[in-house]
Amino acid sequence: MSSAEIGLIGLGTMGAALALNIAESGFDIAVWNRTFGKTQSFFDGAGDLSSRITATETLADLVEAIRPPRAIILMVPAGSAVDEQMKALEPLLSPGDMIIDAGNANFHDTNRRAAAAGPIGFLGIGVSGGEDGARNGPSIMVGGDSQNWERVEPILTAIAAEFEGSACAAHLGPDGAGHFVKTVHNGIEYADMQMIAEVYGLMRDGMGRTAQDIASVFERWNTGRLRSYLIEISGLVAGTTDPATGQPLLDVIVDAAGQKGTGRWTAIEAQHLAAAVPVIEAAVVARNLSSRREERADAENLFGSGPVPLGGALSDEDMERALIAGKILCYSQGFAMIGKASSSFDWNIDLPAVARVWRAGCIIRSDMLDDMAAALAETHDRELMMAPRFARILTENHAALRKVVANAVAHGHAVPALSAGLAYFDAMRTARGTANMIQGQRDYFGLHGFARLDDGTEGQHGPWA
Ligand SMILES: NC(=O)c1ccc[n+]([C@@H]2O[C@H](COP(=O)([O-])OP(=O)(O)OC[C@H]3O[C@@H](n4cnc5c(N)ncnc54)[C@H](OP(=O)(O)O)[C@@H]3O)[C@@H](O)[C@H]2O)c1
Repeated sequence: MSSAEIGLIGLGTMGAALALNIAESGFDIAVWNRTFGKTQSFFDGAGDLSSRITATETLADLVEAIRPPRAIILMVPAGSAVDEQMKALEPLLSPGDMIIDAGNANFHDTNRRAAAAGPIGFLGIGVSGGEDGARNGPSIMVGGDSQNWERVEPILTAIAAEFEGSACAAHLGPDGAGHFVKTVHNGIEYADMQMIAEVYGLMRDGMGRTAQDIASVFERWNTGRLRSYLIEISGLVAGTTDPATGQPLLDVIVDAAGQKGTGRWTAIEAQHLAAAVPVIEAAVVARNLSSRREERADAENLFGSGPVPLGGALSDEDMERALIAGKILCYSQGFAMIGKASSSFDWNIDLPAVARVWRAGCIIRSDMLDDMAAALAETHDRELMMAPRFARILTENHAALRKVVANAVAHGHAVPALSAGLAYFDAMRTARGTANMIQGQRDYFGLHGFARLDDGTEGQHGPWA
């Protein structure tokens, strides 16, 4: 009976796809789902791969079907479902067995679960790429004990996406490190998507272009420096016709974006770490505002519509260049945040390895990530935007970012993520900032003290006290 090399719980969108991927990669797998009907239909639909799949009706059957020491993947919603499943499994497992949470867990939960794991091993892995990635090769970000990782490494690297022959799966650090990196990945995903949406808005409302025309612009950009999955699918989305009306599908989709929390978690953790990720934060806020549709309609009636035509002020090349600069600034912030978490939590995360894992399989995969991996390896103590190869690209493109943001603002178009990127760039390249005024104010009302520029002394006070 105990023939399966691995087990999996949760045959929803991701779990079912991952289980088929594991079977297709040559591993015997036992599966279990809370609702047995789903297990049955999964098994019936597995075709030739069913010879590698053991479908089980009870958790005890699942555990029995796996060869010890066992490894069981949980692919259930993050939060209480994971705790419930772990609790239900524990009496059935033996020391040396291992539970792998592959959902989008909050890394604090993963830290807690890893600390409580005891003789049952625990790994927290971030899996990106949606259903297609899970089925055909996701990007896998692993956190936990390295010995536990080594036990399942052959399976996880076999099912992962490949970039030029190397698997997009890596052990990135202990405890919640994998889920933390996945969270920031999703934050960057929010930001990338928001910047693309902002440029789409400029073309639609500022230039009066059709969805089909916009699709062809994205298609063209996808042959250049911006080549990426998100630019590719933006073109495909813009070019799709609604079968019901014959109109561009994009024109009938409600302008309110959902979220499941990982972008918000990135923004929250950034504040805890005092990491600056304003492009991601702007993207999270933009999603929140997008859902306030009635209020936006009310405000448009009260104040008049925001965006007016740009009057030919911007070219496609300006917008392409602005997206290139915005993307570099956003990724620079994201990698810096991971670096900050790594040193704060003593995780020792290899940033180039993070960029390498993101090169294929995940939603933010892009050609630029390969260069980012190389740049991060060359530049250890400075942000990505200051690595020579990215500093050069930023130098070539920041004027276009300014031109796009300036024109968007002048014509009433909201471009919060691109604006945040530009403000970050300007703040970062201003050696003498304005926080001396803040320090003066703080000292005036609260005697907080300030440091002097001239003689370097600290804890000084103004004569106002
Ligand atoms: N969808 C994506 O693109 C994506 C991408 C990356 C990561 N993720 C993460 O992957 C995980 C799974 O997502 P999904 O999209 O596959 O979800 P899903 O399609 O909704 O499936 C959820 C699965 O979990 C089971 N489940 C729900 N609550 C449970 C509980 N309390 N105890 C035991 N089993 C329970 C469900 O069983 P029943 O059949 O009995 O309802 C179902 O099999 C989540 O953490 C998600 O954030 C999703």
